[in-house]
Amino acid sequence: MFFKKQKKAKEKIQIDDRLKHIAFIMDGNGRWAQMRGMPREFGHSNGAATFKKIGRYCESIGLKYMTVYAFSTENWKRPQKEVDTIMKIFDEYIDQCFREMQEDNVHIRFIGNLTVFSEALREKMARIDRETSNKSFVLNIAINYGGREEILHACNELIREGKSKITEADINRCIYTTGCPDPDLVVRTGGDLRISNFLLWQSAYTEYYFTDVLWPDYSSRDVDEAIASFYSRKRRYGGV
Ligand code: FPP
Repeated sequence: MFFKKQKKAKEKIQIDDRLKHIAFIMDGNGRWAQMRGMPREFGHSNGAATFKKIGRYCESIGLKYMTVYAFSTENWKRPQKEVDTIMKIFDEYIDQCFREMQEDNVHIRFIGNLTVFSEALREKMARIDRETSNKSFVLNIAINYGGREEILHACNELIREGKSKITEADINRCIYTTGCPDPDLVVRTGGDLRISNFLLWQSAYTEYYFTDVLWPDYSSRDVDEAIASFYSRKRRYGGV
């Protein structure tokens, strides 16, 4: 579904075991559309196309995990028309995944508080996750996702299990991304320098990369730039 072989060969950036997981805050869709005199929804449709293109690229360079912030727990505050458009894009994407999930090398996971969605949609998401779980490139789509909500969810799970004392390993087991290594790099497009409640627990030692490029304009060359910046840094994890 969107992860077919790339047609044009451009020199591929080399990555190694230091970079397994990149997460993207796909910001700037609304401004991109408004700059063109178009409604914000137009930006989201183009943003969805960019998401597919960047997913294909990340898989092609050998990345193992990619996470995208598609809709936050706070995004419901947006005008109804905009929320409806994003949900429609999401619905169409799910249907496409459902039809085509056997073809690609992608394990698609949906992370966030999914209880707000209809049972039919949740069943589809669960089936896509289950039936692609043997694929090697993991794509986490964060939808109705909030980092604080995720941590609370994990703590409440552990209370339900009857724990009186919890460890990091317990939380790692109960967060939505369980099984994925923490992101090595979080990229935020659109020029803002904030984290917006994204992967709060997982990002304790993550490297950040911010760019002014608006998400619909984001390209494989921009991914390469973020990766080059990542490799120019020395990760110390609190050591020296
Ligand atoms: C932030 O830009 C973007 C969003 C809240 C929605 C992102 C959704 C997509 C790119 C579609 C993804 C689709 C799938 C299937 C995963 P913004 O609207 O805040 O832009 P602005 O900062 O310019 O207003």
